[in-house]
Amino acid sequence: MTKVPGIDRLLANNRSWAEETERTRPGFFAHLAQQQTPGYLWIGCADSRVPANEIVGLEPGELFVHRNVANLIQNADLNALSVLQFAVDVLKVKHIIVCGHYGCSGVRAALHDMRLGVAEHWIRPVRDICECHRHELDMLPTETARVNRLCELNVMQQVRNVCRNPIIQDAWRRGQKLAVHSWVYGLEDGLVRPLGPTVAGVKSFDELGASYLMRGAF
Ligand code: CO
Repeated sequence: MTKVPGIDRLLANNRSWAEETERTRPGFFAHLAQQQTPGYLWIGCADSRVPANEIVGLEPGELFVHRNVANLIQNADLNALSVLQFAVDVLKVKHIIVCGHYGCSGVRAALHDMRLGVAEHWIRPVRDICECHRHELDMLPTETARVNRLCELNVMQQVRNVCRNPIIQDAWRRGQKLAVHSWVYGLEDGLVRPLGPTVAGVKSFDELGASYLMRGAF
């Protein structure tokens, strides 16, 4: 076979990983191939520095993952909605984690209203969050602080979007156990910071107030 620089290493890595896994845990893949029963849905940024499973120490089969630029959940995004419905209605995950990260390039681009072509349309919702919180952001002393605060505000808004989604609302109404978590990940220290209270049902969401996430009341 033709050698493909940059790719052969990946295939070799894969063979080593599969062999090592099977050696230390015989039957691992055969068992996993039967079915997946992950307890968690991860909604995170596509950034290569935020590898979902590794950050939280979960193995194949344990984390259902959806990633896009700036970890957005938009109502017209069929991809995200399909993932959400499959995770909640079929896999019956117990937890949904929305995890943003500090220094997010998508968020930074929205803050600076940068020209990005199609991606500019994608991050438009972050631009809206930025405009809603312009006063608070302008008070911050540095560009890094403004980007990082907007990363947090974006996670809060995406959690709000998840909680208001009919798929989630219906699950709560029929008594399904499902908690939604707001996290932000630090690229510089590898640590996750929970941003606020877990939302675990219609009642807790209503009690907190539908707008609490936008007020940054954490
Ligand atoms: Co990012």
